[in-house]
Amino acid sequence: MTPQGCTVWITGLSGSGKSTLSDAIARRLDDAGVANHTLDGDALREGLNRDLGFSRDDRRENVRRVGEVAQLFVDAGFVVLVPLISPYRHDRDDVRRRHAEGGRRFVEVYLDVPVDVCEQRDPKGLYARVRAGEIRNFTGIDDPYEPPLAAEIVLRPGVPVDDDAARVVALVTSPD
Ligand code: ADX
Repeated sequence: MTPQGCTVWITGLSGSGKSTLSDAIARRLDDAGVANHTLDGDALREGLNRDLGFSRDDRRENVRRVGEVAQLFVDAGFVVLVPLISPYRHDRDDVRRRHAEGGRRFVEVYLDVPVDVCEQRDPKGLYARVRAGEIRNFTGIDDPYEPPLAAEIVLRPGVPVDDDAARVVALVTSPD
């Protein structure tokens, strides 16, 4: 049986492990024969969203556009993985509401990783550039991050990423 399409919205700070988790989920879905596609924030910012920066309004528009594209994939029967910082609760809730309006399934996964842990990891060297004064309005440092209040899944550091991925896949492949 092919499960119905669904959006898996993965929110958290830069360096919290969104892309790594998303890749692990995709591998498991591939193994299970579940059609899936990843809408990666960094990649989309080079194309569809290349006109957008990191102001409040631009982040809202970034999240809105990616949320709309995700729905198109859900309608085509895909599990859509969306690793996006998406720092504002209101914007994420708008995407959730749009999904609900169309009867589409939306699963919010919150990577609850403290900013000091993300900064220590600094996989892209961005926190170092923030500290050097080269980047401003960086989420978690001098720009807000509003954690979800009712995410379907909350993940914290210290658990193997494949175990986290298994939890998400179990939810996504279960009936509503
Ligand atoms: S969002 O806030 O609009 O959801 P998105 O996930 O698309 O952000 O892009 C975040 C990525 O952009 C980060 O992983 C990082 O590589 C890069 N980036 C560049 N400037 C910033 C900034 N000021 N705040 C956060 N991320 C930034």
